[in-house]
Amino acid sequence: MSDPEDIFATPADTGEMTDAPRILVGVSGGIAAYKACELVRELRRRGCAVRVVMTAGAQAFVTPLTFQALSGEPVRTHLLDAEAESGMDHIALARWADQVVIAPATADLMARMAHGLADDLLTTLLLATTAPVTLAPAMNHRMWEHPATRASHATLCERGVRFVGPDSGEQACGEQGAGRMAEPAAIAAALLDTHPGALQDRRVLITAGPTREPVDPVRYLGNRSSGRMGLALAAAARDAGARVTLVHGPCEHPPPPGVATRAVETAAEMHAAVLEALEGTEVFIASAAVADYRPAAPADHKLKKSRDSLNLELERTPDILADVARRAEQLAPRPLLVGFAAETDRLREHAGDKLTSKGLDLIAANRVDAGRGFGDVDNALLCLWPGGERELPRQPKEQLAGELIRLIADRLAPDTNPDHPSSPQEA
Ligand code: CTP
Repeated sequence: MSDPEDIFATPADTGEMTDAPRILVGVSGGIAAYKACELVRELRRRGCAVRVVMTAGAQAFVTPLTFQALSGEPVRTHLLDAEAESGMDHIALARWADQVVIAPATADLMARMAHGLADDLLTTLLLATTAPVTLAPAMNHRMWEHPATRASHATLCERGVRFVGPDSGEQACGEQGAGRMAEPAAIAAALLDTHPGALQDRRVLITAGPTREPVDPVRYLGNRSSGRMGLALAAAARDAGARVTLVHGPCEHPPPPGVATRAVETAAEMHAAVLEALEGTEVFIASAAVADYRPAAPADHKLKKSRDSLNLELERTPDILADVARRAEQLAPRPLLVGFAAETDRLREHAGDKLTSKGLDLIAANRVDAGRGFGDVDNALLCLWPGGERELPRQPKEQLAGELIRLIADRLAPDTNPDHPSSPQEA
């Protein structure tokens, strides 16, 4: 490890010739901009090549010269910079980055980003880059909690932007609350943990969304699942390096790019698609809200309202997860089996029973009632596995999915992972 002060002697100095991760640090205008200096140093210490782009507001707090000295690279501040555009225009800068991190990300920056504005170099870059983007928000806690910022946050999460922080505690304004920028070391760790992914090259099969069971050619029995959690899991597994196949019912949003998809409607179609894709699967995640019953004899013509009442006879659908679990022991490799449980009461007890009765390796349980659960932006999960459990606190489903994927990766390699929850130090 190099001397922390000797930042110009890091491997990243050999520049474009090395495999050093290339991190573009965007700095927007908040008092936490001074902490971005430490982030740049931290990334250099860890061997990254760093380039800095500052908004006009950021320059009111820290000078470009500071970041130039710390990054060892010229700092870009203007979209229309004749000199810089000749060497590296904003598109080339966007292409250069393996990852983009905005620290601090102000409420204004988040709002501009959520609306797709491109009114300065940083926001233009954010539209042009295909690299993963991480935001470290910093603002007064009331600004963080304002519905406008909540909406920006939800939109950006939905688009796959990752958030680190904000932390809670005393703020620069003297108030207490959530809005402090995460510590630079935590941001650097979050950025670099993704090299290589926790599920690098693992084959992950995921079911997502609701199913529709036909009553007649125009009607069906369905449920309120939006598919959001399953789509977020597919994106998080992809980001962790997995080769993902997503078998999904009719979801409210399109599947994320970079995953193989099979669109289905009924439980029977989902069952068939899963069995077809099962070979070679190392992790099976059943997040779909599969109908438990379907009309036994769907009509082949539209039912007419000729009678005062109508009885539909229902029959059980195949239990996809239970069926995969039954076959699992014969499969090589035996897939790690992850199920979901939605419960209105006695969460731990019901989920624990399902873990055992279905022979699962992990179950993620959440509480559903009139006000919570299906279709929500946020969720909280109680994860149980044989001999252990962990609560994942309420947060946007996209973030929650990232945490669950990390937990799944831990379960996949218990022998090689010193932090594994069932490793001896926990016993
Ligand atoms: N599941 C499945 N196929 C089904 C039904 C459920 O794969 N036909 C999966 C779900 O994707 C989820 C888990 O099984 O991972 C849910 O288990 P289940 O026992 O069906 O939960 P509930 O439907 O909540 O059961 P119950 O109504 O008995 O509480």
